Amino acid sequence: MAMARLWVLLPLALAFPTPPEQTQEQVEIFEKAKARAKAASEAATPQVLAFFDGTLFREMLKDCCPAVAHLPASELLKRYRAEAQVAELAHALPSDNSGQRTPSADVTISELGNMSWFPNEYQVNLMSGKNSSSRGEDISDDAMKEIFGCKAFAGAVPTWSEASSRLIYVAHNMRRLDTGSEPHFGDFTVIFNSSRMKDSVLIAPYDTGMYTMNCLHPGLHPGSQTKTQSSSGQPGPPGPPMADLNCTAWSKDHKVDLPVGTLDYLDHLILPNLWSAINTTVSNQTVLDAARVLFSRSGISGIDYEDVPAMKESERNDYFESDILANPPVPAAVKLGIGSFATLFGTEEGRQLQTMALRYKWPLFWAYGEGTQTGPPPPQSQKVKSQKLNRRMADPSNIVKTTNASVSSSAAKQFENVWQEAVEARASRQVTDEDLLQWWNSLDQELRVAPVSASSCAQPHHCVGVDIAKKDCICKVQDEIFMV
Ligand SMILES: *[C@@H]1O[C@H](CO)[C@@H](O)[C@H](O)[C@H]1NC(C)=O
Ligand SMILES: *[C@@H]1O[C@H](CO)[C@@H](O)[C@H](O)[C@H]1NC(C)=O
Ligand SMILES: *[C@@H]1O[C@H](CO)[C@@H](O)[C@H](O)[C@H]1NC(C)=O
Ligand SMILES: *[C@@H]1O[C@H](CO)[C@@H](O)[C@H](O)[C@H]1NC(C)=O
Ligand SMILES: *[C@@H]1O[C@H](CO)[C@@H](O)[C@H](O)[C@H]1NC(C)=O
Ligand SMILES: *[C@@H]1O[C@H](CO)[C@@H](O)[C@H](O)[C@H]1NC(C)=O
Ligand SMILES: *[C@@H]1O[C@H](CO)[C@@H](O)[C@H](O)[C@H]1NC(C)=O
Repeated sequence: MAMARLWVLLPLALAFPTPPEQTQEQVEIFEKAKARAKAASEAATPQVLAFFDGTLFREMLKDCCPAVAHLPASELLKRYRAEAQVAELAHALPSDNSGQRTPSADVTISELGNMSWFPNEYQVNLMSGKNSSSRGEDISDDAMKEIFGCKAFAGAVPTWSEASSRLIYVAHNMRRLDTGSEPHFGDFTVIFNSSRMKDSVLIAPYDTGMYTMNCLHPGLHPGSQTKTQSSSGQPGPPGPPMADLNCTAWSKDHKVDLPVGTLDYLDHLILPNLWSAINTTVSNQTVLDAARVLFSRSGISGIDYEDVPAMKESERNDYFESDILANPPVPAAVKLGIGSFATLFGTEEGRQLQTMALRYKWPLFWAYGEGTQTGPPPPQSQKVKSQKLNRRMADPSNIVKTTNASVSSSAAKQFENVWQEAVEARASRQVTDEDLLQWWNSLDQELRVAPVSASSCAQPHHCVGVDIAKKDCICKVQDEIFMV
């Protein structure tokens, strides 16, 4: 509701001052978690190496990823760690608050344009005058406390300072989805700069909302299939239906029994990540199927981005949840942005996004995702619909001003023509999936990019994409470098 969103006004800004980039409490939680992660990661390394040396694992690798099938386990692990360090840290947000589709309360695109840091869901709730509940119905609160070690709020509603010590949900995009995050999580995805935010990233082996509902508090969240995950207390769109997870992958008797990881220490998460969605009692999937998706979709395999295999709907949740325990400064902590082609291309909100991205000097991309415009999150379990989710494109008006990419004038012109075509179609009728596909296919393929992988660019943390046609890295223009 528009009225509730006026918190940018001065009196409210005074009530909600910009928090420190990391509060004392966040620093302490992180340091403690890091020490535990280091010990757990080192202890788990031999087990990971043994898994990578298994006969069946090697057979799988020969089949999916011949280029790396002969590599020793130690080299595979080295590559895994390298990709994990540069994998996108993706957080999706909605274009507006009507029918918000994100898993939790969030800023909108226009609100983000007025922020000096990226707020977490508890801060968003306070700023918009909504109550967050901490009475045990709140999946986020449970996950933050029980998995990540955040402190409980003293009262029913958090204070500003308590809220400012919580974390932001982030998906780790090692499987290189074009949308960065799950395509249903929102219209605009920010990719945080992982080298900049490294000392605040805490990693769980799997989506913690799903894991909390399935494994930690199955009784508290009965019928979560039909309930929103939103902590706002407002009824929202239905959340994703429950998958049959494997709860022994990293919990025992409804208690977490694995420390979280960091970008430096995550060996202990590798096998629990693969096992989380593999429940051999209810499905015929094996842990090798999960490993196959990870290896063939990630930069480890050396498979070209256009050739990555399609993913099943259920497999999109199989990411590390790499949350940010900080109040990341805006615009500095964000590396790039990705707009949803289906919902924003050829719209007023899409124009607003382009304007904000340029003002913040954020390189802007568009993702085709599943190429569909509407609808609640689809049922995940038995659906077999598979998609490649590998169609991402640079925004020509933005990319030449924010990176060292060059774009031909014909590609830039074509982009504007198709945008106009989309504006007119959207004004006159309900657009269809066929429209979306036709628009996408009429754009110049010169603009297509792959996400950065550890092996594709010499300085991956400075780069924001790989030009597929030219096989060249697109990198952030460093003001400092160009000034000297
Ligand atoms: C900032 O806030 C103003 C006033 O609410 C709004 O009109 C504008 O769209 C917002 N976003 C940007 C990017 O300025
Ligand atoms: C928010 O929570 C407080 C304390 O529990 C309660 O008094 C108040 O009525 C709640 N407000 C709303 C809008 O739910
Ligand atoms: C990410 O942050 C680092 C500083 O921590 C900076 O050197 C690098 O250029 C940033 N990358 C991008 C793409 O903005
Ligand atoms: C596998 O799924 C079934 C059905 O949901 C469940 O009862 C069982 O506990 C699950 N197994 C594990 C190890 O979580
Ligand atoms: C769950 O995962 C563990 C490994 O963490 C595995 O040993 C077990 O067989 C799995 N259970 C099911 C039901 O698939
Ligand atoms: C597993 O495989 C068996 C034999 O091929 C088949 O009968 C069964 O339906 C499969 N189960 C599932 C859940 O796919
Ligand atoms: C952009 O800069 C990077 C790093 O300096 C370089 O490797 C790459 O080739 C450049 N790309 C283009 C398109 O100029």
